[in-house]
Amino acid sequence: MADAYSQIVNNPVGGFLAKSLGLPQPVELDRWEQGAPLIAGRVLVGSAAGGRCGDAVASVLADAGAKVDSRLHDEVRAALGGAAVDAGIWNDEAPGSQRWKALVFDATGIASSSELRELWRFFHPTIRRLEPSGRLIVLGGEPGDPADPAAATAQRALEGFVRAAGKELRYGGTAQLIRVGAGSEGRLGSSLRFFLSPRSAYVSGQTARVGAGRDVPEVDREHPLRGKVALVTGASRGIGEAIAGVLARDGAHVVGLDVPALKDDLERVVGAFGGSAIVADITAADAPAAICDALAAEHGGVDVVVHNAGVTRDKTLGGMDADRWELTIAINLTAEERINAELLSRDGLLRPDGRIVCVSSMSGIAGNAGQTNYSTSKAGVIGMVEAMAPVLAERSGTINAVAPGFIETQMTAAMPIGPREAGRRMNSLSQGGLPVDVAETIAWLAAPDSTGLNGNVIRVCGQSLIGA
Ligand SMILES: NC(=O)c1ccc[n+]([C@@H]2O[C@H](COP(=O)([O-])OP(=O)(O)OC[C@H]3O[C@@H](n4cnc5c(N)ncnc54)[C@H](O)[C@@H]3O)[C@@H](O)[C@H]2O)c1
Repeated sequence: MADAYSQIVNNPVGGFLAKSLGLPQPVELDRWEQGAPLIAGRVLVGSAAGGRCGDAVASVLADAGAKVDSRLHDEVRAALGGAAVDAGIWNDEAPGSQRWKALVFDATGIASSSELRELWRFFHPTIRRLEPSGRLIVLGGEPGDPADPAAATAQRALEGFVRAAGKELRYGGTAQLIRVGAGSEGRLGSSLRFFLSPRSAYVSGQTARVGAGRDVPEVDREHPLRGKVALVTGASRGIGEAIAGVLARDGAHVVGLDVPALKDDLERVVGAFGGSAIVADITAADAPAAICDALAAEHGGVDVVVHNAGVTRDKTLGGMDADRWELTIAINLTAEERINAELLSRDGLLRPDGRIVCVSSMSGIAGNAGQTNYSTSKAGVIGMVEAMAPVLAERSGTINAVAPGFIETQMTAAMPIGPREAGRRMNSLSQGGLPVDVAETIAWLAAPDSTGLNGNVIRVCGQSLIGA
């Protein structure tokens, strides 16, 4: 954790002062490293009656080497009643500790407001037993599925529970809701793995929707993108550089794209992992055709397209000249629309099971003073994802967006100290995210077995208090 405040409060004196004064106390978050287990700790799994996801959860835990732990403390067992179906366990050496790295509760069977008490029954005795960087995961159904008002009401209520619980967690803990459509339980795996693992370090308070998707061959967990070609725009630095690196780590051949002025930086980035470069300004009239020609000629197609390139040109609306407006919309939104249109107009260029992942922003959800142009463009990105999801589904592909909050980059390092500190602290984790946190989220959406995720917008913002 780089920022000075975090360093101060993580020494004994600073920590004591921060606690006494009620100041934020960020902790260093667990982050995934190659070769590390899915999750370094025990997982407690529970279910309300009628839960549909037991088999899917068990299969993810078994795949990760879990054993069943029924050695619960008496008071926990008594409090859980019939709610806990089993507890998966890693690191078997501490059977008596009764602390968990993750709590997973299948709430898909909850069909009335009174049954919501099952959430309380499961989490009340266990939430304080979560380890640092712990995971609280609720599995829900789609509110309108089946069309029963009482069940829909109760299922909608799960979002409030998860958001509030996320704000109560300490020491880097996160909380998520994964909504699993009826019949889509078999698609849960990639999302459950992501949210259990430290790859989702800076994602909290989110709802992911897992729908129909389709079957894919077994995925190589070490290199899920092996054999895939991934285009990343704006890859020469910042978040784009991290995305390129993570997709390459996951086995993809990465084609990085950036403007002519950053050609050397781009070649350095993609050269580090044997990727390719396309030098282009994505707003140029001929850019979509040139990009698609290069993907066809040099790679025979593309599997993953990440629209990351973006700019800010901040000014309050009254003082904003037309150039700031036009440029921001052109780069952040229109260029993406044009590239997608060209890509989809060419038969088979986006290969079957193709993925498009767009980088929106918290500003596109909450709005931000001085950023009417940027917020408009980034809200437009969300609109594009929602509108294009059925189009991609017809072609057995998906389109999703990530919406970063405060991420530690050159851009945010250059902000004045007041807004910078406010941006860093005003979230449940009391710190900024790292570019790799955005990249890991994109890698999850791009993974071959994420076929059930389409039209999602996932914030990577540490559960920012703004626009939540
Ligand atoms: N840093 C944050 O906190 C944050 C928060 C929310 C969203 N985002 C979004 O994440 C993305 C990456 O942001 P970043 O912080 O890494 O910014 P950055 O400025 O470091 O990187 C953006 C990249 O896009 C490239 N680019 C810009 N215009 C281009 C064009 N016309 N053609 C081709 N490439 C072009 C730039 O050259 C640069 O390499 C952007 O879409 C940004 O809006 C960032």
